[in-house]
Amino acid sequence: MHVEGPSRKIAAKLLAHYDVHARSLPWRAPPGANAADPYRVWLSEVMLQQTTVTAVRPYFAKFTERWPDVTALAAEEDGEVMAAWAGLGYYARARNLLACARAVAGGHGGIFPDTEQGLRALPGVGAYTAAAVAAIAFGRRAVVVDANVERVVARLFAIATPLPAARPEIRIATDAITPDARAGDFAQAMMDLGATICTPRNPACGICPLRLDCAACATADPAAFPVKAAKKAKPHRLGHGWWIERPDGHVWLVRRPDKGMLGGMRALPSSDWNEAPDATPPLVARWRRLPDPVSHVFTHFSLALTVHHAHVGQDAAPPGAGEWWPVAEIGKAGLPTLFARAAEAAMKERLNDARP
Ligand code: ADE
Repeated sequence: MHVEGPSRKIAAKLLAHYDVHARSLPWRAPPGANAADPYRVWLSEVMLQQTTVTAVRPYFAKFTERWPDVTALAAEEDGEVMAAWAGLGYYARARNLLACARAVAGGHGGIFPDTEQGLRALPGVGAYTAAAVAAIAFGRRAVVVDANVERVVARLFAIATPLPAARPEIRIATDAITPDARAGDFAQAMMDLGATICTPRNPACGICPLRLDCAACATADPAAFPVKAAKKAKPHRLGHGWWIERPDGHVWLVRRPDKGMLGGMRALPSSDWNEAPDATPPLVARWRRLPDPVSHVFTHFSLALTVHHAHVGQDAAPPGAGEWWPVAEIGKAGLPTLFARAAEAAMKERLNDARP
């Protein structure tokens, strides 16, 4: 869509604001550069899905230091990358990240495709990531809609349709205000506006560069947009996890199956997670149960994991594949947050046990 009239004014005002107020972020080129390192842009966009800039920063620094380009990342072992991702959540992203890195390194000589269509064909690259990388890394005109942009646009046009049904409408409106030039800066300016001024609650309309163009700002309650469909309550699940410790200070860890929740990640052995999970431990021992389960909220359900702990003989052999991991090095196992917290709780309890 070619932008003219009032829509063009919106982009011009926003870009002028971005030229002065752009957040300085480690994957970004300065405003007006119209290109940035595609590897860094792609990596940051995958990390930033459903995750805040604050949470991403240290992971981005760690990844780019360890794997400075896509070829280095592609050559790494799966387990190393999964462990480095531990704590960032949504672990399917890490598996897709590796699949994509290997496709770029293997099928494209280590060079990212420079069009939205070419990027979209890579494994694990969805419509959002393809558009964001095409615009930010290659200066292509692309319509980039993440949750921040969704909120800004729903407010600009006071879109009354509730989310998620409003998505097609929001996309058309975003297309209408996306300029031909500086589409990458425009996308990032919209994201910055959503993150710093047009925030979910209490938007700072008084300092917004688009306040005079914003239909929601003219209403009594700009924060009422985007309108959201009533949320369904999340189902609650239960599970059991087992901390099995050997006299030499090693604990038994498993790797979760590639498919499914926390796929491919190191973990404590645990039961299925459902309404009435089987609490049969992996081996016979004098089990003790921690008084409080570890609670964790996933996207589609919440979980209460009951943690059991036991000391076993040096020759004990839990069933199935796994490894004895030094307890003193548990921080290096790359446990996802749920199991890191379960491990922490079990270790605390065993210290209590040791006291007279
Ligand atoms: N969120 C997702 N991508 C982003 C980017 N490039 N800049 C700021 N926030 C973002």
